[in-house]
Amino acid sequence: MVSQILRDARRYEAIAEQAVPAKSKPSFHLAARVGWMNDPNGFSYYKGQYHLFYQYYPYDTKWGSMHWGHAVSDDLLHWNHLPAALAPDTLQDRDGCFSGSAVELSDGRQLLLYTGVVKQGGLPGEGSESLQSQCIAIGDGTDYEKYAANPVLSGADLPEGGSAYDFRDPKAWREKDGSYRCVVGNRASDGSGQLLYYSSEDAIHWTFESVLAENKERFGSMWECPDLFELDGKTVVLISPQDMLPQGFEYHNGNGTVCLIGRFDESKKSFVEESNHAIDYGIDFYAPQTVLTPDGRRVMIAWMQNWDTLAVRMAKSPWCGQMTLPRELSVRNGRLYQWPVRELETLRRNRVAYENVLLEGAATLEGIRGRRIDLTITIRPEDEANVYKKFAVWFGKNDAFHTALSFRPYESILKVDRKFSGSRRAVIHQRRCKVPNRGGALTFRMILDRFSVEIFVNHGEQALTATMFTDSTADGIAFFADGRIRMDVEQYTLDAADESASAE
Ligand code: FRU
Repeated sequence: MVSQILRDARRYEAIAEQAVPAKSKPSFHLAARVGWMNDPNGFSYYKGQYHLFYQYYPYDTKWGSMHWGHAVSDDLLHWNHLPAALAPDTLQDRDGCFSGSAVELSDGRQLLLYTGVVKQGGLPGEGSESLQSQCIAIGDGTDYEKYAANPVLSGADLPEGGSAYDFRDPKAWREKDGSYRCVVGNRASDGSGQLLYYSSEDAIHWTFESVLAENKERFGSMWECPDLFELDGKTVVLISPQDMLPQGFEYHNGNGTVCLIGRFDESKKSFVEESNHAIDYGIDFYAPQTVLTPDGRRVMIAWMQNWDTLAVRMAKSPWCGQMTLPRELSVRNGRLYQWPVRELETLRRNRVAYENVLLEGAATLEGIRGRRIDLTITIRPEDEANVYKKFAVWFGKNDAFHTALSFRPYESILKVDRKFSGSRRAVIHQRRCKVPNRGGALTFRMILDRFSVEIFVNHGEQALTATMFTDSTADGIAFFADGRIRMDVEQYTLDAADESASAE
């Protein structure tokens, strides 16, 4: 049964989207159907298609009472919107259906596990915060029925000291034996984040197992949007902590993302950490979630925004919020590697390539330009005994605007800078990251869509993501070297379904 609140949202989005021209949206990144989008939710492969749900407020381009938007795709690049899947329409989630995940049940139905939010009324003994509990809805891939006995996890299922006000974003998965597990973000009594671990035979009745991982005053406060999976012989935990402090060039202030790599101790049901690092070193990346593809790839997608950088947006757009490219993950040498899903290569057209170009001062290259491109640049010093001082590439460029990526080999720092990308707000426009020092040799792949750049450094060892909202006619690319550099460049235009890439 579809509630009136959900019916209203579905009717509204179907009408409102007609006023949103395809070209005003990203070409091969998923954006909000209309209105507001934040975290990816319920990323899953179900009945032969990828399903991606998302935190959604259709009625405005600002965060509001959370619904779940819904899209499906065959190739992770072309997305079709389905009607909104969840609305805040029951007593257990009346103030929002917050983030969560999806699993398939043994009878073939799909179960959504999400956080139901209920604001406290300010009665004596009640705080002004929102109580958070885990709820489920079961459906067929389009329509979902909320479970009558929601919530399935509440304050009673917390360990001692765990807060019922910061208890959210369950990520569930199915074990090989058919039983289910989930991890949920929680705030411990010392105010810092922890991960709670639950088990279930049917994905409906859940039992608390353990505190799987603790913050120990390292990564911000509350841990949002956890994920946990096995990859390349390691256990990987992804978290999105609030209120982070920077640690050198590794983490930055505010809402950040952290990858913990280690192993799972089955007897203690706890995670033993071996290494940690930032998931993305750019500006706009938060709340990543993964799916296991039918061919065994672990693929991650994230909200290509951040709560701290939201002021950078298009003034009059009918949508706000996009996802990153889905990225294939692997673990090598204690690090999480990321690479655009291989499906992206099917969109490649119009190859232009240069080899061993000598770069000294400023230069452009014939045919190297565009705002929907897949561009790989490899640089090395012309003279290893006299390494250049600085390399830069400016893209999304016209006379007024550009976004820059620059590299200084003597400090081994890579910097993304979108100060000149049209933002009128005094917020973060730059971010720097330390890359391994390889004597001035560096290779990176940049994927540009209409409103974003994603940079994959040294074959995916590090990634930097940023949105940019300049007009897509700002499509120039220029190079700069302080010193002498040898450079290889390979570019493809990316031809998505909505139109021919060469038209821009
Ligand atoms: C993360 C987050 C989640 C929450 C959702 C609400 O971006 O704050 O913790 O479930 O957004 O929209």
